[in-house]
Amino acid sequence: MIRCWRLDDERQTLVLGTAHEALAQVVYWGARLPDHEDLGTLLAAHEIDRTGGMLDATPELSLCPEASRTFPGHPGMELSRSDGQSLLPSFTFCRAEEARFSLTLDYSDAVHGLRYRAHFSLDAQTHVLTSHARLTSDEPVYLRWLAAPVMPCPQQADEMVDFSGRWCGEFQMNRTAWTAGIRLRENRTGRTGHEHFPGLLIPARGANATSGEVWAFHFGWSGGHRMVAEALPDGRRQVQFGLAPGLLLDQVTDFTTPRLYMTYSDEGVNGCAVAFQRHVRERIVTWPSPDKPRPVHYNCWEAIYFEQSLDVLKDIATLAASLGAERFVLDDGWFEGRDDDRGGLSLWEVDRRKYPQGLDPLIAHVRGEGMDFGIWIEPEMISPDAPLLRAHPDWVLGGPDQILGRHQLVLDLANPKVQSHLFGCLSRLLTAHDISYVKWDHNRVLPYPDGAQTLGTYALMDRLRSSFPQLELESCASGGGRVDFGILERTHRLWLSDTNDALERLRIQYAASIFLPLAVTGSHVGPRQCPTSGRHLDMGFRAWVAAQRHMGIEMDPRELTCAEFRRLKEVIDWWRANRTWMFRADLLRLESNDPAIIAEQHLHEDGEKFVVFAGKAATSDQIAPRPLRLTRLKATKSYRVALLNRNEAPALSRGSPLLKSHSAVFSGAYLMNNGLTLPWSFPESLWVVEGQLL
Ligand code: DGJ
Repeated sequence: MIRCWRLDDERQTLVLGTAHEALAQVVYWGARLPDHEDLGTLLAAHEIDRTGGMLDATPELSLCPEASRTFPGHPGMELSRSDGQSLLPSFTFCRAEEARFSLTLDYSDAVHGLRYRAHFSLDAQTHVLTSHARLTSDEPVYLRWLAAPVMPCPQQADEMVDFSGRWCGEFQMNRTAWTAGIRLRENRTGRTGHEHFPGLLIPARGANATSGEVWAFHFGWSGGHRMVAEALPDGRRQVQFGLAPGLLLDQVTDFTTPRLYMTYSDEGVNGCAVAFQRHVRERIVTWPSPDKPRPVHYNCWEAIYFEQSLDVLKDIATLAASLGAERFVLDDGWFEGRDDDRGGLSLWEVDRRKYPQGLDPLIAHVRGEGMDFGIWIEPEMISPDAPLLRAHPDWVLGGPDQILGRHQLVLDLANPKVQSHLFGCLSRLLTAHDISYVKWDHNRVLPYPDGAQTLGTYALMDRLRSSFPQLELESCASGGGRVDFGILERTHRLWLSDTNDALERLRIQYAASIFLPLAVTGSHVGPRQCPTSGRHLDMGFRAWVAAQRHMGIEMDPRELTCAEFRRLKEVIDWWRANRTWMFRADLLRLESNDPAIIAEQHLHEDGEKFVVFAGKAATSDQIAPRPLRLTRLKATKSYRVALLNRNEAPALSRGSPLLKSHSAVFSGAYLMNNGLTLPWSFPESLWVVEGQLL
């Protein structure tokens, strides 16, 4: 019997179908199809031809391709019985549950006592398609691999783009040509990791930031994943995302994959980026006070590191508040035994040598300066010399001869006793003090992959949040080592990178905006000399790069010259005046004709205004800046455009380009087709252009 289903929003259609009782396959995912399209015909047309050397029927690239049907590529599921014998399931259709924007398909394998479910839901407002797969079994099984529902990949693409990175160098984009076989990304570190952000873009030939077709994927899981992008011998292509094999150490009878988030756009990478940004902001993050503006942060890490003293911190807090900071985050070093990163992770008790009267005097001072108080913790970790470990040696993950990371061990969060202990420590800390924000760090990889650890962390965060509903959390893992939609279900801000070097940040946050909105992306003004790169950068550049995201300061404000102080305050004032609309704005990548320029446009949700940040990351080859074309404006309408920081033009900019001295009115058509002609500038500087719809 032929069965077909479809899900549609205004811009995309997903069609699934099967001609017999086996697992359905995605027969179409792309631009919206008309309502009258005959799905049975699409299913029939999806069938590829066969020629010599092939089987007598084509094994389906189904939602979970089955080895039992001689599928010629990576199967969607790999499992074995308790005795180690591999199982080769073969599922048949049971039922479908269809709603306007969701679809659940149930299958069973009676021989092996297994049931498989694929679920899809399409968000008509954000255009994000979310799926997961579930396997249940009569008997416990070892599940080595279960992909979220498997998607075919378009043939119009020559390449794929995925992401790698390192400490202080997150979100590096890799372009790989589609060739025979598998591009496999596998993260066995036990956290999302800098190295393998779980995202993938499939741009059709010719697609760029602003135009063309792009299919995008993100796997919302914080414990390590595997991505398989495979070109089969017959030319078909598949994409699979699942937990990294080996993460499920125990046998299971019921397992659901994390969510796979997908979107299709015919407006280039920006179409996907906007979908993900809005979905994160509106659907994934749960804000305790959604209408409260994002506060300007002050974080003391790169100011003082572990050398905390009440008097110095009070001075710093006063200066930070006078710059416009609204939240003061006390970073690592406030608790017992923490004079460097070699010890102290254990009980989360205030260090009475540094704070003889506890944290209250500092908190009172910070509150008196009109700021919220936040604090750093790293609850999943423990120092090897912690007395707690002597009492509970079995609370640690990994063996005695394991290699330490940042001199620390990992607590076994799958152990309910460990979770209760940590909940006790943290809830005591939060109950005893006026703390509204926690920066939650995770500075080493796990000794071995273990998915139960991630679920334990999720459970602890969930419990803490339900006990302290007004609490906001920041996800940090040596910078951007735990950035994904799974952690964002529980947190409100991401520490995207440990580099506060504005030049490096410019690139990192530009790439990350394919998935992340301003609302959750922290970005700080670092010290004059960046401690992680050694670079000296001008205050204007540092401040504007931070102002592109959720702005903060992370340096010793006592180092500021009067001019730097004034400049920084001006930018913070500007950010505070604009943050409400920028919180909801779409971050759009601009296609610059000059590779030295990294430029983006924040567009008001109703299109009534925009701000363009055009960063100059290197010296240009040509003399004059090439016009920078804007995007998504109303072609026939007019905009008043002004170069906000024209006073930053260097003396070597000797000419008189219009925007250097005047604001001007242009049509959207001109701004999108010709673009803005900006003044000459130094590398490591950034132009800020405001536009208002008239
Ligand atoms: C790593 C983080 O990414 C930094 O911001 C800082 O919090 C340190 N850990 C503290 O140890």
